[in-house]
Amino acid sequence: MTSHPLTGELPRSIQPAVRLRGEPRLPGDKSISHRALIMAALAQGTCLISGAGDGRDVAATAAILAALGATVERIAEDGLNVDYRVVSPGVDGLREPEGILDCRNSGTSLRLLSGVLAGLPFMSVLDGDASLRTRPVARIIEPLRSMGAGLYARRSDSLPPLVVIGRSKLRAIDFTTRVPSAQVKSAILLAGLRAEGETTVREAVATRDHTERMLRSRGIAVRREPAASSGGASVAWTVEGGVPLRPLDERVPADASAAAFWLVAGTIHPDAELTLRSVGVNPTRRAAIDILVRMGAQIDEHTAGTAGNTAHAATDTGEPLADLTVRSSELRAIDIGPDEVAAAIDEIPILCLAATAAAGTTTFRGVGELRNKESDRIAGIAAGLAALGALIEVRGDEIAITGPTPLTGAATQTLDDHRLAMTFAVAGLIARGETTIDRAQSAAVSYPSFFIELERLRA
Ligand code: S3P
Repeated sequence: MTSHPLTGELPRSIQPAVRLRGEPRLPGDKSISHRALIMAALAQGTCLISGAGDGRDVAATAAILAALGATVERIAEDGLNVDYRVVSPGVDGLREPEGILDCRNSGTSLRLLSGVLAGLPFMSVLDGDASLRTRPVARIIEPLRSMGAGLYARRSDSLPPLVVIGRSKLRAIDFTTRVPSAQVKSAILLAGLRAEGETTVREAVATRDHTERMLRSRGIAVRREPAASSGGASVAWTVEGGVPLRPLDERVPADASAAAFWLVAGTIHPDAELTLRSVGVNPTRRAAIDILVRMGAQIDEHTAGTAGNTAHAATDTGEPLADLTVRSSELRAIDIGPDEVAAAIDEIPILCLAATAAAGTTTFRGVGELRNKESDRIAGIAAGLAALGALIEVRGDEIAITGPTPLTGAATQTLDDHRLAMTFAVAGLIARGETTIDRAQSAAVSYPSFFIELERLRA
């Protein structure tokens, strides 16, 4: 085995598991953890955030908010999750950072914080690692400029680093997103807090609505309405500007996207029973569960209350939770259309692995946006699954996988992408022989204890 030329990291070896049993611990939801930190920094006062995911992405957001003048303290941690105490002077007390703001690998930090910085009267520069510098930013530059902020980026305003020259009073806009993106929507809604009047974002598919729920519970009026079919939009979100956020404690649910790795492991392994506790099953985040059930997965779901914070219970605040138990299942192929792909965007790599075990040809249509993630996930998943013996074909923006194919251990390349690393690791549990994963440490971007959980489940 050769080590990575830059990091010296050796490929990680995964042996097949005879049985899978147990309750893997899950990280706090990555999307909600970012938002809880950001909203705590925007509200004057103290907020406690419990059970935030302790991946590298969320830590990047925490460090950036500290550089802007919030006090961000880690008050408890267990190697997977962290409790934060955030004390903020409020949005008008945040100050110009002295250095470049490092988003590391985190597209969510880059996009959401652009929306915040657009409404702050100073200059900042957002940058990140080599992967982040390939992530498109024109999609946020266009709407935030039309609100009155100055944004500039490399390659004719298309790639980071991103310079943001904000102003404390922005113009309200009515904007239709070109690609379904909760990050773009959230950036505009967060900037909309600093605009006079109402800012509306229209989107073709209702993407994850954590920002909207969390703003509501902090005293901001956010409406969801069917969009009167402007430019193909089906849903419109409207936020009122000029109202200060009130500080609110937040309990973060377990991450549905992290849970998806174990749901697929439990489904495709021939001798498995796994239980996942307190998983966030927000209707805009549960598409992967519903897709697996449609493929024939045996998943028992029991409601387990609500996370988030419903203290100021407007409607549609908080996050519904469920305990999920998954057992070995016979899967059948299905057709997964563009709306479902958008709703399960982070789970497509692991769902591709599930498709290798399903009888027939599973198609994923409208997957083009996967080329713009932490890696080109279409190329990465096609190469990795093909190396393991899957029948996978990419035709333009469509992936077709014919199964069931028994997988055979092989060397896989993660492209330094956390979701590819975890997908190939789960494949290694069912493949015959040894699977190796290069840059496996990338899993820590969203799931620091992933490999510890994986080894525990063999017991
Ligand atoms: C996220 C939105 C999605 C997702 C990402 C997290 C968010 O990105 O892929 O992991 O927290 O809003 P896009 O909005 O670019 O699809």
